[in-house]
Parts: sequence; C-alpha cells; structure tokens
Amino acid sequence: MKKRIAIFASGAGSNAKAIIDYFKHSEKSTVAMIATNNPNAGVLEIAIQNNIDTFIFSKEDLQNESFFLKQLSDIDFIVLAGFLWLIPSYLVKHFPNRIINIHPALLPKFGGKGMYGMRVHEAVYASHETETGITIHFVNEHYDEGTYIMQQKVSIDVNDTPESIANKVLQLEHQWYPKAVEQTV
Ligand code: GAR
Repeated sequence: MKKRIAIFASGAGSNAKAIIDYFKHSEKSTVAMIATNNPNAGVLEIAIQNNIDTFIFSKEDLQNESFFLKQLSDIDFIVLAGFLWLIPSYLVKHFPNRIINIHPALLPKFGGKGMYGMRVHEAVYASHETETGITIHFVNEHYDEGTYIMQQKVSIDVNDTPESIANKVLQLEHQWYPKAVEQTV
C-alpha cells in the first residue's frame, strides 16, 4: 500500500506542486490531500489541476480534535509547505515523527513565530549574512523547532536583494524538499 501524504499549505503552493510532481510516479507514496486554512490559496488551483482532494478548514476546525482527525483518518504523513499556523499538540502526538516542515532559512537563525516568507529573507538581508538556505525538520509543539532532517545552503552575494535571496532559497526548496519527504515517509 502506498503511503498517503497530506500537504498543508497556506499560499501559492510552489513547494506543494514540486512534491506532487515528484511523487506522481512513486511506488512508495502519493499526495492524497491538499489541506489549507486559506480558501483563496493558490495551492487549491494546483490541487484541482492534479485531481487531488482538498480540505479547507478554520481555526476552530483545527482545534476540534475528533473532527480534524476524522478528516485525516486515511493519511499517513503530513508535509507542511508554507503553512502558517501552529500545529496543535494533539496532532503532533497523533503523527509522531510523521509531520515535517520546511523553513526558508538556516535555523535556529531567523525562525519562530511571525518569521515566514519574505519576512525571513528581509531579516537575512538586513543582518548582512553571507549565506542562507533551507531547514527541513520534524514538527513539534513549537514554531520551527523539532529535529532537523536536512539543511542546504546557498551563498549571498553583494548584489543580492531580499527578492533575489528569496528566489535562490525557493529553488533550493524545490530541489530538496521532495527528496527529503521521500527519505522520511
Ligand atoms: C516557502 O518558502 C516556505 O519555506 C515558507 O513559505 C514559502 C511557501 O511558498 N514557509 C515558511 O516561511 C514557514 N515558516 P510556496 O507556497 O510557493 O510553497
């Protein structure tokens, strides 16, 4: 039986797309669900194009343990790809070492509550870092903590801007996140 992955995403969903494409021909796993808190998220369009079930939920839904676990009853593994809400502890306990996240910086730097998307790259730029990268890690009850699975680095040049840093990091994400999911599922 293939392992069934649910991707949680709040935004454009470019990482979700990279993972969906990567697992299309996998014998081992399949993306079975796209779940989002944002009814306007671009990731929903990607789900429709790929014929993948969608699940749109509110904050109240996420706190409703029995309801929420029922929606995920046939899911083996959760991949956060630009998902911005904290994962409640009942969900962490229900999926031990089976929820992973990607963060667009070299944790433990530039992580924590409120550090997401361009805010991260602006902070990296403002700190005159000479390198940045990605961190893929297991999810625990705290933002951007949990055991690391993989880090990948990219250098920052004098001509880089927050936008060019964001582009470099996103390319790294698309290159490595599907592989990290495959080795972890
Ligand atoms: C990605 O860069 C991901 O690392 C980041 O959101 C972006 C989502 O892009 N996640 C965080 O900042 C979490 N703290 P996408 O919707 O195109 O995949």
